[in-house]
Amino acid sequence: MALLEINNVSKHFGGLAALDEVSFSALEGEIHGLIGPNGAGKSTMFKNISGFYSPTTGTIRFNGQDIQGLSPSSIAKLGIVRTFQETTLFQELTVFENVLVGCHLEAEVNLLDALFGLNKKVQQKANVHALKVLDFMGLTERKDQLAIELPLGSQRALAIAIALAAKPKLILMDEPFAGMNPEETRQMMDLTRKVNETGVTIVLVEHDMKAVMGLCENITVLNFGTLLAQGKPDEIRQNDKVINAYLGGGH
Ligand SMILES: Nc1ncnc2c1ncn2[C@@H]1O[C@H](COP(=O)(O)OP(=O)(O)O)[C@@H](O)[C@H]1O
Ligand SMILES: [Mg+2]
Repeated sequence: MALLEINNVSKHFGGLAALDEVSFSALEGEIHGLIGPNGAGKSTMFKNISGFYSPTTGTIRFNGQDIQGLSPSSIAKLGIVRTFQETTLFQELTVFENVLVGCHLEAEVNLLDALFGLNKKVQQKANVHALKVLDFMGLTERKDQLAIELPLGSQRALAIAIALAAKPKLILMDEPFAGMNPEETRQMMDLTRKVNETGVTIVLVEHDMKAVMGLCENITVLNFGTLLAQGKPDEIRQNDKVINAYLGGGH
């Protein structure tokens, strides 16, 4: 069953079609790869799905409901959370405080309320949940460190922990493996699988082909805002159009 259905989505910026009539579906429970050369429209697709942009045309269905044009907070409440390409950690907060903020993402609470202001019962529940998420992501020993002090692998794990704290059905991950060494990549692949095994569907934008091919059940390829190919990792790996797009883009 499709959890996320993208139907003929276009996104225009002035004269530029960053996305041009793109359709694909992510099945419930899978890790779905969304790949393509730089400028293909991957991050723009994520921004449309998560409500930071509305599509110029087309529809986005999530869990049977049309969500295109809804606000980011409404979409987060429905269960879609994204981890950004840019770093989104609150650098001057501790690991624990960062996850606490994530716990309140669905509740539309402001940052200060999330940290200090809520009533005791809500706060206590959030504390317990945050500790559980930290444990799950292997961050318990780092919980009192400032986010800014973490090594890259732990920063990325924390970004996923923040997303996970909001109890999502779908996580959109934008280049979680960028800049990682092989050991960090291996650990991140394990964590991504572990999150997926709890029933969370994942759409993964990533250039690291080892990670994409190793993790994804199905892959959608974009190029210059259009759909180039769709298939299983083995089909994508051997697809001439895909190979040419990557070679042509200097990859
Ligand atoms: N806010 C924006 N305004 C104008 N052009 C944009 C904007 N966001 C993205 N683009 C353009 O849309 C295209 C797709 O960008 P993007 O989605 O970031 O690609 P990717 O993530 O696949 O590298 C690029 O040509 C980019 O310059
Ligand atoms: Mg991008």
